[in-house]
Amino acid sequence: MNEVAFELDRVTYRYRAVAALDEVTLSIPAGRRLALLGANGCGKSTLLRVLDGLYFPASGVITHRGAPMGEQEFLHDEFALAFRRNVGLLFQNPDVQLFCPTVFDEIAFGPLQLGLSKEQVRAAVEKALDVFEVRHLKDRAPHHLSGGEKKRVAIAAVLVMDPTVLLLDEPTAALDPRSQARIVEYLQRWHGHGRTTVVATHDLHLLSELADDCVVLERGRVLASGPPREILDNEELLLRANLIHPRYVRQ
Ligand SMILES: Nc1ncnc2c1ncn2[C@@H]1O[C@H](COP(=O)(O)OP(=O)(O)O)[C@@H](O)[C@H]1O
Ligand SMILES: [Mg+2]
Repeated sequence: MNEVAFELDRVTYRYRAVAALDEVTLSIPAGRRLALLGANGCGKSTLLRVLDGLYFPASGVITHRGAPMGEQEFLHDEFALAFRRNVGLLFQNPDVQLFCPTVFDEIAFGPLQLGLSKEQVRAAVEKALDVFEVRHLKDRAPHHLSGGEKKRVAIAAVLVMDPTVLLLDEPTAALDPRSQARIVEYLQRWHGHGRTTVVATHDLHLLSELADDCVVLERGRVLASGPPREILDNEELLLRANLIHPRYVRQ
């Protein structure tokens, strides 16, 4: 199966004067796990939002499984609903994602939008509460949880929709090692069955576990791409892309 999940052809995105993505050309095969690497401000979050159909390029073309995903397409409810069902985005900051009064409601919110029956929604939420180890939190307010707990609830709320593409913005950042390991485990378990993952990360020590392919961005442009091992072995590239600092390179 050589299907392509996303194809970007010279995609440029600007915030006023700043070109956050500058003629990015990229093919993301279905069923693969792609890591987006690069310094703060290189365009990772912007790229994820473009892939999620939240931002639309100023120029260039982006397609999802061969279908153009421009602003016009999203005006059609049928397209927008199918896309939203298929593609899930985990924001870097869970506070942006979580807005319901309880964890249970939070995880039920997406499935309710799909028009499933009450029983179907309940069954899906019950399962997610166990899979993501948040059952004990189900009546709590998401905003009062710890960082790791919020991340698990946010992931549960995205994956309960059973998407085929998962976009993740620094899912392991600012988490303790045990919480990081849990997130990695969920993602590894979720992967397979032709599912596609795109993950922005700075956690190079998790790269080999999170990704099959990497793209390194620098000021909105693709600087390099390759498998994790090749990228991690290229010290010159890592230094240039500000993924490591000379002060912290082991001699
Ligand atoms: N809302 C915004 N308004 C103006 N500039 C922005 C905004 N969001 C991001 N940028 C700029 O766009 C560039 C890319 O940002 P971003 O995609 O957030 O990078 P990353 O996620 O890699 O840190 C940066 O120069 C950043 O300052
Ligand atoms: Mg970011």
